[in-house]
Amino acid sequence: MIMRKRILITRKYPPPGIQLLEKENFSLTLWQKDRPMNPNELSEMAADHDALLCTLTDSIDSHFLDQCHHLDIISQFAVGFDNIDIDSATRLGIPVGFTPDAMSEATADIAFGLMIAVARKMFFNHRTIVTGDWGYFNPTGHLGCELKNKTLGILGLGRIGKKMAKRCKGAFDMDVIYHNRNPLLEMQKNLNAKYVSFEGLLAQSDVLSVHCALTPETKHLFNRDIFKAMKSTAIFVNTSRGPVHHEKDLYQAMKSNEIWGVGLDVTDPEPMDKDNPLLFMENVCILPHIGSATKEARNQMSIMAAKNIIEFYKTGKVPTIVNPQVLSS
Ligand code: GLV
Repeated sequence: MIMRKRILITRKYPPPGIQLLEKENFSLTLWQKDRPMNPNELSEMAADHDALLCTLTDSIDSHFLDQCHHLDIISQFAVGFDNIDIDSATRLGIPVGFTPDAMSEATADIAFGLMIAVARKMFFNHRTIVTGDWGYFNPTGHLGCELKNKTLGILGLGRIGKKMAKRCKGAFDMDVIYHNRNPLLEMQKNLNAKYVSFEGLLAQSDVLSVHCALTPETKHLFNRDIFKAMKSTAIFVNTSRGPVHHEKDLYQAMKSNEIWGVGLDVTDPEPMDKDNPLLFMENVCILPHIGSATKEARNQMSIMAAKNIIEFYKTGKVPTIVNPQVLSS
């Protein structure tokens, strides 16, 4: 008798992917609590499973991987995979799947929305109603800024950055500049996007939107010196990963008027402390990491994560894989 492959599913994921796995007759263990497993729970449960369907709240570090090197495949429900030690997984020959592009529209919407919300101090103004401080229409109060014809700077013009650029170009005819490891000719044609150095990006952006991955090179990239190099009228938007900015430096930069506004969908740590002073600043809008939180995106992520496991067991291929070298060797 062929043993059914056992899949450990670390959170309550949207049904479409789970149904696909059920249809393929895998044996599924579903973690039922609303919190992630702690490292001990995760490694104890993974010990008698063949594959893992996990997400960014699971710490798949080298310790876990050394303990669970028997895993056939790790399928991540997310586009980012900084919670996984990819080098260790690769060393151990474990393929890691992920779900690129499923959430690009949804996340670009959040970056775009945060940009406008900050420019018009929306969250602060909303709070004045809730706290009974609305007062009267004020001809000189609550003044934000307009985005028409301003310069949008993108760090990391990839799947999500391109969609943010398109929105800003279409809605506000913004000039788009970007910094990547390499210039992208196709973007220069389609959006008239101009490639600039990182220093150029800091100096010229009216809105600087971060869409790069969290890596050792980008960790705390946005520190006090970098904020000082930006325009004092600039809006900083981060929808990628919290640790790309240094949060205390970000607060100091705002307090010292080194930049004008901040929109964050990601913080460091997550969840953000409810007393974090950034939350109470006038030109700051913060959301609790909801970039991919639409029904469409989450269902698609669930399907992609499931298909990565199904295809792996059926054909030996993982349709969207982080470390393809594992399968080609
Ligand atoms: C969400 O943050 C993701 O990486 O998919």
